[in-house]
Amino acid sequence: MFENQELNQKNKIIFLIGFMGAGKTTLGKNLADILNYEFIDSDLWIENQQSMTIASIFDKKGESFFRTLEFDFLNNLILKKSTIIATGGGLPCHNDNLGKMQNMGTIIYLKVSPSQIMKRIRLNETRPLFKNLQNENDKELFIETKLKERCVFYEQANFIIDAEQPIDKQINDIKCRIF
Ligand code: S3P
Repeated sequence: MFENQELNQKNKIIFLIGFMGAGKTTLGKNLADILNYEFIDSDLWIENQQSMTIASIFDKKGESFFRTLEFDFLNNLILKKSTIIATGGGLPCHNDNLGKMQNMGTIIYLKVSPSQIMKRIRLNETRPLFKNLQNENDKELFIETKLKERCVFYEQANFIIDAEQPIDKQINDIKCRIF
C-alpha cells in the first residue's frame, strides 16, 4: 500500500466517512492543505479510473458494480506520503471495507443531522441515489432510513466530529484529537 514502508501507516492515513452532504471532500481538501498531506477522493478516483461520472456508472452499470469499484479503490491504494481520504457515503457500509480501513488508518466520522443533510442535498441534486425520489417527503424518509442503517458502520469510527460546525472548528477538533 505504502511505497515507502518506513511510514507508520496508522498515523498517516486519515479516512473521512459520513453521509452524502457531510462535507467530506471540502474538509478533506482543507485539512490536507493545512497538514501538508496528500488528498484523495474515492469518487474522483473511480470516475478517473472508469472515465465516467458516478451518475453514469450507476445508470449504465448499476449500484452493485459501483460497490465493487469502491472495494477495488481501497485494495489498490498506493500512497507516497501521508494522506487524507474522503470516501463516498456508502463505502464504509459494504464489503467489509470498514474493517479494512480500521486496519489501515484513523477513521473520522463527520456527523450531520438528517435535516441538515436535506438542506445540503437540495443544493446539489445530482447524486444518483436521489434520482428516483420524487418529492421532499420521499427524500426525507430516504435520508432517515439510510442514515439509521449506516450509523452502525459510521459510529465505529475512531472519533466523531460535529460536521455542522464551521469548518475551522472541525479542523481544530481533528487536530486536537490526532496530534
Ligand atoms: C453515495 C455517496 C456518493 C457517491 C455515490 C453513492 C452513497 O458520495 O459515492 O453517489 O451511497 O452514499 P458522497 O458521499 O461524496 O456524496
